[in-house]
Amino acid sequence: MAPERSRRFQNLPAYPLTGVAEAKKRLEASGVDVIDLGVGDADLDPPPEAVRRLAEAASERSMSRYPFQSGLPDLREAIATWMGQRFGLKLDPYTEILPLMGSKEGLAKLPLAFLDPGDAAVIPDPGYPVYQGGVILAGGEPHLVPLLSENDYLMALDGIPDDVRSRLRLMYLNYPNNPTAATAPPEYLARVVDFCREHQAVLAYDHAYSEIAFDGYRPPSILEVEGADGIALEFHSFSKTYNMTGWRLGWVAGNADLIESLTLVKTVMDIGVFKAVQAAGAAALAAYEHWVPGNVARFQVRRDVAVEGLTQAGFTVTQPKATMYLWVPVPGGGSSVAFAERALQEAGVVVLPGAALGAGGEGFFRIALTVDEERMRVAVARLGTLAMG
Ligand SMILES: Cc1ncc(COP(=O)(O)O)c(C=O)c1O
Repeated sequence: MAPERSRRFQNLPAYPLTGVAEAKKRLEASGVDVIDLGVGDADLDPPPEAVRRLAEAASERSMSRYPFQSGLPDLREAIATWMGQRFGLKLDPYTEILPLMGSKEGLAKLPLAFLDPGDAAVIPDPGYPVYQGGVILAGGEPHLVPLLSENDYLMALDGIPDDVRSRLRLMYLNYPNNPTAATAPPEYLARVVDFCREHQAVLAYDHAYSEIAFDGYRPPSILEVEGADGIALEFHSFSKTYNMTGWRLGWVAGNADLIESLTLVKTVMDIGVFKAVQAAGAAALAAYEHWVPGNVARFQVRRDVAVEGLTQAGFTVTQPKATMYLWVPVPGGGSSVAFAERALQEAGVVVLPGAALGAGGEGFFRIALTVDEERMRVAVARLGTLAMG
């Protein structure tokens, strides 16, 4: 008999997209030219400055030592400088910033510092699956709140029941949002901060898409909101801004006390990011001003091609102000999984079924702007054949 898994483990929802890789491989083996718009991992290069610094740093002896949580001072300083220039925040590089092995790591480990069994965490639905998985593994209770199109995909706070409010210790929030591509106005963020303050809950603000924004829009930091200090932690990532998904580098910023709690959890579980990658991260941040706008412009061209093509094909598409995603209602209102299967089998295009990111995502599918405009044109033309049928 197999050893029994913990109840926490058994409660984990299945991670989405696990079967898709296999199906894609099978199709490709049979000669189909599959276009993958499933995972948010663009086909673009990281900044050359980061690549060069990584290569150089790899041969510096000091880089091969244990990084520990304090990591590389250069990276901490570069992050503090960038947060100052971008959001006007004054953060202490050594107590109010913590480098992470990608923001996913911090988002997943955070509940271990703040949740006891029976404590509740509010989570957007649909949403990045890590929020729910992290809460469940920590023994907490996820309370999912639907993101509705009629509410501009802003997570409604009014409907959170008293029973959850009284046990609330943690809330996840993510704008610009994956998967809906929604953005949050400042007055909404102020309301969320007030709510979390009132309930003494930590607000984990996932800002992975803070820099992928279009038409002049500049997403604000939650740490700029009055009252956020002491309850909010903001998670940043090199993955999307710099096309560095595989490098596993991000950071969390916020009040020193909250940062220290996550640092202690990490001290038990890991020893930090390879210092050469941290050095490369500092180089990427230094290249921000001259490199990132061009990268964002590439995503914007892809967005425009995709929005135009899908609209012409009969899909109902809202042009997003940010993120690398389009969130599109399934034509005819059918099941998102069935639509994604048809997209793969009949059109050779991988899309993410909304339901894979939570029941609240049913009725929608997500496409990621991960291929260049030429390939995107082909992809949306192929998807167009499904809009009609
Ligand atoms: C909303 C959101 N948060 C966090 C992450 C994780 O980013 P990282 O690569 O920094 O772990 C992703 C990645 O897709 C994401 O979509």
